[in-house]
Amino acid sequence: MKTQLTMLLIGASFLTYSQNALNIPTAITNTTINLTLDEGTTMFYPGVTTNTLGANGPLLGPTLILNQGDNVNITVDNQLADTTTIHWHGLHVAPEDDGGPHSIILPGNSWNPQFTVLDKAGTYWYHPHLHMQTDKHVSKGIAGMILVRDSEEASLGLPMTYGVDEIPLVLQTKGFDAQGQILVHTDLDTSVMANGVVDAVTDFPAQVVRLRILNGSSMRVMKLGFSDNRSFSLIGTDGGLLAAPVSLTRYTMGPGQRADILVDLSSSLGQNFQLMSFGSEIPSAYYGAAQPGMGPGATSSLPDYTSNPLNGADYSFLDINVVAATGSPITSIPSSLATFTPWQEASAVTTRTLLFSSDGPMGDLNGPFVINNSTFDMNVMNYTVQLNNIEIWELTNGTPIAHPFHIHDVQFFILDINGNAPPAEMAGYNDVVLVPAGMSTVRFIAKFENHTNDSIPYMYHCHMLTHEDMGMMGQFLVIDSTLNTIEYEAGSNWTLYPNPSNGKVFFQAEEKTEITITDLSGKIIQVFEAYGKTEVQLNVSPGLYIATDARGRREKFVVE
Ligand code: C2O
Ligand code: CU
Ligand code: CU
Repeated sequence: MKTQLTMLLIGASFLTYSQNALNIPTAITNTTINLTLDEGTTMFYPGVTTNTLGANGPLLGPTLILNQGDNVNITVDNQLADTTTIHWHGLHVAPEDDGGPHSIILPGNSWNPQFTVLDKAGTYWYHPHLHMQTDKHVSKGIAGMILVRDSEEASLGLPMTYGVDEIPLVLQTKGFDAQGQILVHTDLDTSVMANGVVDAVTDFPAQVVRLRILNGSSMRVMKLGFSDNRSFSLIGTDGGLLAAPVSLTRYTMGPGQRADILVDLSSSLGQNFQLMSFGSEIPSAYYGAAQPGMGPGATSSLPDYTSNPLNGADYSFLDINVVAATGSPITSIPSSLATFTPWQEASAVTTRTLLFSSDGPMGDLNGPFVINNSTFDMNVMNYTVQLNNIEIWELTNGTPIAHPFHIHDVQFFILDINGNAPPAEMAGYNDVVLVPAGMSTVRFIAKFENHTNDSIPYMYHCHMLTHEDMGMMGQFLVIDSTLNTIEYEAGSNWTLYPNPSNGKVFFQAEEKTEITITDLSGKIIQVFEAYGKTEVQLNVSPGLYIATDARGRREKFVVE
């Protein structure tokens, strides 16, 4: 019966394989968390052994269920043959705990971030973030969900029984070579999986069921919906609940994005339907659309794009059978959710403009893509943000394909897309936004609060992992220039003022002292002798600089 229904609804071409039970990742609810990254094998297809990577298992990782205010202590033990990092995508943590490409974990070593969960109830995730290797480690299997709970969420009567009426769904497409091994940096991602299971099937109870969905694909944009076009309520986006549920039949998600949805199955007992991506409805210029040349001005195609049967196709992630309700089920959907006030444009102190372009000929779809004409460089700080700044970031996409832009540290509010206010489903907390192709502009506003680090940056990048790995990324420091940044060491008698300055700095030195000014990467900007009151004019861009004397005493200062 199940098979017949499936055949009627999604067609025989997807029945090549038998169905497999959906796997629900284990939940960790402790605040002391151990994640062991290791190599293993997974049988995605009968008789085919695929080498995979996972956290606390051969594929994917446990779901971390955290509460706002928790002090968590995480040990990430790297048992891989490779160096890697683990990034808590969407969480507002200090740069040194964020797990970006600067926080490497060598093979056999462990990393121990400790932080307070400051985030609102939302759907976050974790994944490796090693420079140029992110796709390799994510595609081969490391990714896990993070669910943050808070008291506001607890008061809403939402489904919160993990694995019963609250279902985590890591939706991914992956590519395999002829030997059944996972491809990296591919556009032949022809396999569809939910929580690492191909042709997944599950039972849901006949009540309100909450799906915590991650688009964990490296490249693919998904247009989610159900095979029978039933409506669902979007209640949350990346970093928080919406103000009120938004009723939808489709929801577009770029790589890295999350959706928190409710589907009311109260009167669906005995029904069978599928969670789908309607690729046939994805407009051109998004990875997943039918057309190989995507968007206006495209001059090339991706090498294997047209031979990937998923492009432009409707395909199923999960076959759902509705069974009897649980005891004391949730049967209604609240009409209002979270209370929040988006930052107002007038409170922004600066607008940063970022232009995406191709590093090859105009219109080239193969990239590599760059932001403001520069490829990611670990040693270059692209921006320095003053702590507590409210800023507007204006993203313009001068390429023929949409890019899911992601920024670390903050959740942002979208101000407008090509001048239009965002639709209700995009009006909440986000850390990824799909920037449409063809010179489209998205503006968002965010506040950079709580965390600073003078040398470890946060990242911003395209979340299509091939693009990211090939350099469509930048980094920024958040610093507090109002702090007294002087590091005293005995025996050095000099001072520097004003701090911050506009580039004209005075040194007051009691004895003759050689001072070297460097930027944060250590590049020497100026060397001079200070004695008495010495004026120095620095022709440098705004940022954080270091003055060091011959004895090694350092003082950090800011040029605005
Ligand atoms: Cu999900 Cu910088 O990453
Ligand atoms: Cu992130
Ligand atoms: Cu991109």
